[in-house]
Amino acid sequence: MKSENITYSQQYINCSRKELLEAVSQVMSPKRFIHVKGVEQAALELAEQYGADREKVSIAALLHDYAKEQLDEEMRDIIISENMDLELLQYGNNIWHGPVGAILIRNRFEVTDTEILDAVRHHTVGAPHMGLIEQIIYIADYIEPNRDFKGITEARTLAKSSLKEAIAFATLKTLKYLLEKNVKIYPRAIETYNAWVVQK
Ligand SMILES: [Fe+2]
Ligand SMILES: [Fe+2]
Repeated sequence: MKSENITYSQQYINCSRKELLEAVSQVMSPKRFIHVKGVEQAALELAEQYGADREKVSIAALLHDYAKEQLDEEMRDIIISENMDLELLQYGNNIWHGPVGAILIRNRFEVTDTEILDAVRHHTVGAPHMGLIEQIIYIADYIEPNRDFKGITEARTLAKSSLKEAIAFATLKTLKYLLEKNVKIYPRAIETYNAWVVQK
């Protein structure tokens, strides 16, 4: 089933899919909007294969990068006012846009479903325990059709046979990349690694 054929029940979000697309396109560059639609497409394919709720997956995919182009200053304020882990302040947008995005979409679109919120919250560095929708968004973000990097074919093949294997692959590859760049690693990324790569 094509994404255009999904009708939102208004059970999880206060608008239609068309209105959501419009709202999302207004907070990001055209390039990122193409990425977001690619994530929805990849996520819906995974939802079909692994039996996840298509409406929730569509909403989570379209909203996963909602905070990506927010100003750092506004994001810092949200981290503080929402009593998030203050260690976050030592990192940046790459980590923040997941947890801050979850707050923004709750406020703007009245999303309260924990599976959708957790999928948005955790898509940046994963989490030791991820439910099906979180897993789908984490992997769809990595393999969506516009992605092109060394290993993408293997990641796409793995996602077709095992979400868990695909998560292990993506997590290991991302961590290796960060270590080679000598950047600071957010501790939960290590927890995700321990849970999904070491203990798979
Ligand atoms: Fe993201
Ligand atoms: Fe993304």
